[in-house]
Amino acid sequence: MTEQGPLLSINGIEVMYSRLALVLRGLTLTVPRGGIVALLGANGAGKTTTMKAVANLLRSERGEVTRGTIQYDGERIDRLDASDLARRGLSLVMEGRHCFPTLSVEDNLKVGAFSRRDGAVAESLELVYRYFPRLKDRRHQATGLLSGGEQQMCAIGRALMARPRMILLDEPSMGLAPLLVEEIFVIMKQLNAAEGMTFLLAEQNASVALRYATYGYLIESGRVVREGAAAALAADPEIRASYLGLDASAEADASAFSARRRPRWLS
Ligand SMILES: Nc1ncnc2c1ncn2[C@@H]1O[C@H](COP(=O)(O)OP(=O)(O)O)[C@@H](O)[C@H]1O
Ligand SMILES: [Mg+2]
Repeated sequence: MTEQGPLLSINGIEVMYSRLALVLRGLTLTVPRGGIVALLGANGAGKTTTMKAVANLLRSERGEVTRGTIQYDGERIDRLDASDLARRGLSLVMEGRHCFPTLSVEDNLKVGAFSRRDGAVAESLELVYRYFPRLKDRRHQATGLLSGGEQQMCAIGRALMARPRMILLDEPSMGLAPLLVEEIFVIMKQLNAAEGMTFLLAEQNASVALRYATYGYLIESGRVVREGAAAALAADPEIRASYLGLDASAEADASAFSARRRPRWLS
């Protein structure tokens, strides 16, 4: 185990699906220990593909990393499977909340602890319920009956059961009401501050992600086109116009303004 250097580094990876569709084109990013790094981009930019490349889940979709390397905690992880990664403290929460709908919340959480001793399972359950009291209230209900937000909490809770050092969190805000999104991000921030967990957070919702992340990367067509401290990205006029949910007229005003010749008193 190395104690220096970033916890995760993705170095110039290319990913191809079915040997023909090049989806990531030399993507490079790093996640420092204890950081919350946002991976931003429109639908189809390559966020989920990046997460799956790290978690080594591309093969089942006929995808492969055709160039570049991925290192976690100083070690190349290209050939490790999900349980190897879990043992090293790396967990993925997939887009679209995959908890088993017919299992109770608690049984879903226990699935996340597959590799752990019994005593550790009870301890982990307690940790999850401390951060997600809603899950404790509903622990005996079938997960399929929960609200979308609670199902997202269940998916994150299940990842927590393995006591990860790092969580790859793919689009936690998707389909959720704004207040629930905030609730989930606040809990992520608490896990980061109190448990020292590191996050790589893929989000189309740049506005909320940049309020909770420390650093961000914006990707377009499988390439990083901007990176910087979260506050700097949130203040970037181009990002504000294209990704921060300004309404259509504000967006049109912004681009009309930059297209027009700037008045002399502004130069
Ligand atoms: N299994 C697959 N086979 C072929 N193309 C795929 C597959 N999965 C995703 N893609 C394509 O890769 C691109 C990036 O997708 P994805 O990583 O899901 O983007 P994001 O998560 O940013 O929305 C898209 O053009 C998408 O259509
Ligand atoms: Mg995605």
